[in-house]
Amino acid sequence: MKTQYYTAASLDGFIADADNSLDWLHQFDMTEDYPDFIRDVGALAMGSTTYEWILANLSRSNTDHLRLWPYEQPTWVFTSRSLPTLPSADVRFVSGDVRPVHEQMVTAADGRNIWLVGGGELVGQFHDYGLLDELIVTVASVTLGGGAPLLPRAITMPPLRLITARTYGNAFVQLHYEVPRKRE
Ligand SMILES: NC(=O)c1ccc[n+]([C@@H]2O[C@H](COP(=O)([O-])OP(=O)(O)OC[C@H]3O[C@@H](n4cnc5c(N)ncnc54)[C@H](OP(=O)(O)O)[C@@H]3O)[C@@H](O)[C@H]2O)c1
Repeated sequence: MKTQYYTAASLDGFIADADNSLDWLHQFDMTEDYPDFIRDVGALAMGSTTYEWILANLSRSNTDHLRLWPYEQPTWVFTSRSLPTLPSADVRFVSGDVRPVHEQMVTAADGRNIWLVGGGELVGQFHDYGLLDELIVTVASVTLGGGAPLLPRAITMPPLRLITARTYGNAFVQLHYEVPRKRE
């Protein structure tokens, strides 16, 4: 069981542009590895901007099939606000300390991985408590010049450990890193 931050980013380190748009990403065919990745996921966590982006995107879809909540696994949404839900979605709203939430996620995942969907600051909160095991970042061949940061934390000594680097077509490089444990 691993806690993984799996996301796509621009070459200059942003996961959404300054308007919270992903149009820069959706111009491409998505990477081929997602079905294998999601098969091993047992629980998800995301911040409210990401959650609201998914809801808005679903409501823009023009077929019933695409209007459904896309995840079968339980999803924890971090927010200090009261947000709408979808009848088909197993979504749990939480706020504050990520540690008790992570414990609940581990139990629910039952041996499968935990997917930290984003954004970067929320993932940083998990990292602050040593709860982030891996980063899987698919870097697209665009720069955004600003927007939502990939991971606004300094991870330098020890550095991340590169496990694999794969290319997908002529637009993506996927970098899979392990987060080293700090020496006591
Ligand atoms: N490229 C990709 O693959 C990818 C992946 C994921 C996301 N995205 C995009 O990237 C952007 C990320 O947005 P973002 O940086 O604003 O991050 P976010 O994590 O989606 O949302 C941040 C919000 O989550 C809530 N939050 C975070 N930590 C909390 C805590 N401990 N307790 C309570 N609430 C907490 C706060 O909102 P409240 O005001 O609700 O309290 C905070 O303003 C979105 O546009 C999303 O669609 C892209």
